[in-house]
Amino acid sequence: MTPSKHKYSFNAILLASFCTAFVQGALAQASLTVDADKLGHPISPALWGIFFEDINLSADGGIYPELVRNRSFEDSDKPEFWTLSDTQGGQSTIAIDSSKPLNPYNRRSLRVVVDGSIAIENEGYWGMNIVKGDTYAFKLAGRAGNGFSAPLTVRLLSARGDELARGEVKGLGGEWRYFTLRLTAVAGDPKAHLQISAAGKGEFFLDMVSLMPEKTWHNHGLRTDLAESLDGLRPSFVRFPGGCWVEGDDFAHMNHWKRTIGSIDAREPLWNIWGYYATHGLGFHEYLQLCEDLHAAPLFCINVGMSHHETVPVSRMGEWVQDALDAAEYANGPTNSLWGGVRAKAGHPGSFNLKYMEIGNENGGPDYIERWPLLVNALRQQHPEIQLIANTDLRGRPYPKKPAPDLVDEHYYESPESFMHRADQYDHYDRRGPKIFVGEYAVTQHCGKGNLRAAIGEAAFMTGLERNSDIVVMASYAPLLVNLNHRAWNPDLINFDSARWYGLPSYYVQQMFSQNRGDVVLPVSVDSPMAPVKGSDAGMIGVGTWNTKSEFKDVKVTTPDGKVLFASDFSNNSDGWKKLGDGDWTVQDGAMRQNAEREFVRALAGERSWTDYTVTLKARKIGGKEGFLILFHVADDEDRVWWNIGGWGNTQDALESGGTIDPKPGEIETGRWYDIRLDVRGQRAKCFLDGKLIHDVDYENARPVKALYAVASREDRNGDLILKVVNASADPIETAIHLKGTTTPARSAQAVVLSSDSPSDENSLEAPEKVSPKTQTLSLSGPDFQHTFPGNSLTVLRIGKPNGSP
Ligand code: AHR
Repeated sequence: MTPSKHKYSFNAILLASFCTAFVQGALAQASLTVDADKLGHPISPALWGIFFEDINLSADGGIYPELVRNRSFEDSDKPEFWTLSDTQGGQSTIAIDSSKPLNPYNRRSLRVVVDGSIAIENEGYWGMNIVKGDTYAFKLAGRAGNGFSAPLTVRLLSARGDELARGEVKGLGGEWRYFTLRLTAVAGDPKAHLQISAAGKGEFFLDMVSLMPEKTWHNHGLRTDLAESLDGLRPSFVRFPGGCWVEGDDFAHMNHWKRTIGSIDAREPLWNIWGYYATHGLGFHEYLQLCEDLHAAPLFCINVGMSHHETVPVSRMGEWVQDALDAAEYANGPTNSLWGGVRAKAGHPGSFNLKYMEIGNENGGPDYIERWPLLVNALRQQHPEIQLIANTDLRGRPYPKKPAPDLVDEHYYESPESFMHRADQYDHYDRRGPKIFVGEYAVTQHCGKGNLRAAIGEAAFMTGLERNSDIVVMASYAPLLVNLNHRAWNPDLINFDSARWYGLPSYYVQQMFSQNRGDVVLPVSVDSPMAPVKGSDAGMIGVGTWNTKSEFKDVKVTTPDGKVLFASDFSNNSDGWKKLGDGDWTVQDGAMRQNAEREFVRALAGERSWTDYTVTLKARKIGGKEGFLILFHVADDEDRVWWNIGGWGNTQDALESGGTIDPKPGEIETGRWYDIRLDVRGQRAKCFLDGKLIHDVDYENARPVKALYAVASREDRNGDLILKVVNASADPIETAIHLKGTTTPARSAQAVVLSSDSPSDENSLEAPEKVSPKTQTLSLSGPDFQHTFPGNSLTVLRIGKPNGSP
């Protein structure tokens, strides 16, 4: 299959008219031709899927609707998230107890000593969403001691303290016993909480205190509105349960699927790399069920024997291979197989049709190449129905070739403009290798909390994915969900609190592509002007490292006329520097030292308002893999430019602002002090190492972007021609559209347009649809017509089957 023709010609006359347009207020012009009678390759039906990672409290505190936080008291030696709200008459106390565990995996419980009266409370994840008229299933395991025999009063209370529901637990005895209640709310509050109270003397013990809405999506135990938000994307597959969560920082803290199945009460909570305990209530079985309910193919990502900091010796890899085989058998095996039987016992005798397994996440290098065949050979032999996906790592090292993967997973987190540059990268990919799965991508720089401009960058990139879907057969945005009270990553597609959610503008881009995918690509060519890019020319400065220990001293920032804006003082401490990432900063001998060999560690200083300045400093590498990062124009934690000296495994120097600019060979020696100087004027930077000029670049205009990006397709069902056009420039572009090969009479078309007043516009809980698609009906004069695409927009034009077209 040959890729569809997609030609962008930078037309000097058009550029001239475009530039004039800004001067005179006239519209810029472009032209676009679709070969409506030339069918290209089929579009992969699996193209647009989702990636669900347990990050940002997306499972617990999110789609898994347990309302009680730390229900099993396993989070720590203290009763985290439980408070003692009322004690009267004596010395009532609460504490964690492990004298008599509920089961071997759930070793801690809460000991409540009652002396008079007591009330304990749990507000879940920043408030429980209790809805008037809804019923909630309450459960606890309890036992009593020291003569305690009184009932427990269970109440749901509003934030103001009004009673929303009430029940009673009676008959606690000396042994663990479960008690259940159905609580129907007489009134509602999205910030409600649970209270358990008692009066008397003695002690009682609680475990697995759970409160769940009875109404869940498809009655399969997930929060309805969030599951619907996923369903609204019409995903063709679900990659789960993560990326970094699959790897873990170490093997003790990674997602082991076998520990996430079976009785909820015996699933041991585990510290999640993204900063909280995961209950595993959303476990392997529940992920598979979610896929089935979404009509999406499951894609399970499994650890390959490599965590962020450890590697399993090859001699012990047998366990990991068996684990992968068992996962496949759990999902797809017959009920008379060991793990297929466990699945059937859990209520799903039929196969879950696990279609894809990804071996590792972002792993690479010799250790990965060595471990890949161990899992792949075994899986291919026993589960030929499963397609196997290999990683490409963040350092761009080659993926394993033996045995050949079915697909290779690529990840991109960049600026809007970098994604625009990547819109045609697959036009030139080698078509003889494995298929491509773009398993994680999102604009993460210059994007606020997920604004329109970010969505436009992704949309431009996605035109290239669809146009090349003979090779790029699957893609998923990342990450998917964030509880707004625990954002470990920015941005995230679906943002929620206890009761509400909204999608980023990017959510609507995903939806517009998946709902208008088309079945066959039609060749399209675009004559587009270039779009000026307005970049940031102000911001703080900073120093940082990537998998390297380094120290920095004598940091000075001066204006072009010599005024000192900042001079570091590391005589006692590094107070005043904002530390980001997982670093370990100390001061020693007048220098600030970063001791941790971790990725993406940085310390910032100065003012966001600083514009033109010169930064001078001394830096010395102490150990590790790379050199130094010198940051400037830092407007936000993720919004910056940096000079990467000795990056890419200590092989190269380059500026990085979304993409890599002006790479030059470069290496940093360990133990030697270097003199570093940066002259920053507007968006131009001159970078000197030991007095030698290494880069002199206008870093934003170094890589101008095209204004228009397009992909065309035909839908088999009804013969509709679907044209998706992204206008990445700030201004409207009047475009002459030619549908070649049709003898079209006048007819109407539908235009769905995503745009807004400003590229920095975002949605929010209060204005969830501020940036959302609007539908218009157009009347077309024939196969040649003019259409104006608004600035920073994605338009999906759907044109009904023309007379005479194929
Ligand atoms: O999507 C967030 C993280 O980004 C994923 O866990 C990881 O795979 C990637 O580095």
